[in-house]
Amino acid sequence: MDRPVGPRFPGEVKNTLILAGTGKTGRRIATALTAAGHPVRTVSRTAGDVRLDLDDPTTWPAALDGVGAVYLVEPNPHAAGGDPPRLARLATAAVESGARRLVMLSAPGADDEHHPFHATEQTVRESGAEWTILRPNWFSQNFSEDFWLPVIRGGTLALPTGDGRVPFVDAQDIADVAVAALTEDRHAGQVYELSGPRAIGFGEAAELIAKASGRPLEYVAVTPTAYLEQQLANGVPELIARRFTDLVSSVSTGAHEALGDGVERALGRSPRRFEDFVVETAASGCWS
Ligand SMILES: NC(=O)c1ccc[n+]([C@@H]2O[C@H](COP(=O)([O-])OP(=O)(O)OC[C@H]3O[C@@H](n4cnc5c(N)ncnc54)[C@H](OP(=O)(O)O)[C@@H]3O)[C@@H](O)[C@H]2O)c1
Repeated sequence: MDRPVGPRFPGEVKNTLILAGTGKTGRRIATALTAAGHPVRTVSRTAGDVRLDLDDPTTWPAALDGVGAVYLVEPNPHAAGGDPPRLARLATAAVESGARRLVMLSAPGADDEHHPFHATEQTVRESGAEWTILRPNWFSQNFSEDFWLPVIRGGTLALPTGDGRVPFVDAQDIADVAVAALTEDRHAGQVYELSGPRAIGFGEAAELIAKASGRPLEYVAVTPTAYLEQQLANGVPELIARRFTDLVSSVSTGAHEALGDGVERALGRSPRRFEDFVVETAASGCWS
């Protein structure tokens, strides 16, 4: 039987702690849980209900007090290392503080021991809590709430992605699966690979965004070197620029094309389509 992560006995109110609570998935999870009547505590460094800095463990006890379930997010994959990684240490502290359910936002490929999230996934699996791991492909909302928004407004999407394709996943689908995992027992021990229903090339993505927004948007395939230089010129630190260039360039090899069945397995429905994402997002005015 499914049970809420809220009260387990009369008088006890257990919060669900949501890391990156102002971010693309955390914000949507908090909205849905609150609407369903679950007590929620969002955290981040600068906003949210309580301040929590993953780099400052002195901020953790107050954030973890009275928490029954945690949505775990490492906002910066470049900070995912360490021995143990900071998010793994937070997961351990959460269980020691009384949390009984952990839902981790990870990424595809984390079975590989060299993957930045591998060690944290292992800690979560061995934590003693019920756990669920979400491995989403690239978010559709990267075009509307993150790094590609400014370039879309500029009219040119210049990327080293060649003809590679990505089955972009809607952040709302990730949030819906996270909410299910945080509130229903049947997701314990599951790893959900999350994607949209089909892989889309960046040329087609640009066409769909242009059509929905009514503004011109051209996709231009550039070399990894040109992309790296563009980031360095924009002031991105070199290590981050190089890693991001490697990640984005790997799309051209087809490395991100695989579909995931996690939305269907967790929710019993198909994932949202990119075509619908662009129509809804254009209506919000963010590309105008
Ligand atoms: N974007 C994608 O396509 C994609 C695909 C697969 C997996 N992922 C994974 O998803 C995760 C989330 O990435 P995202 O870009 O979507 O982030 P996000 O959730 O949109 O936003 C980052 C959030 O983290 C908070 N934050 C940043 N540094 C923090 C710190 N030191 N301590 C506590 N909170 C902190 C930020 O608020 P403050 O600034 O106020 O702290 C903000 O709420 C990453 O692990 C990424 O690898 C992303």
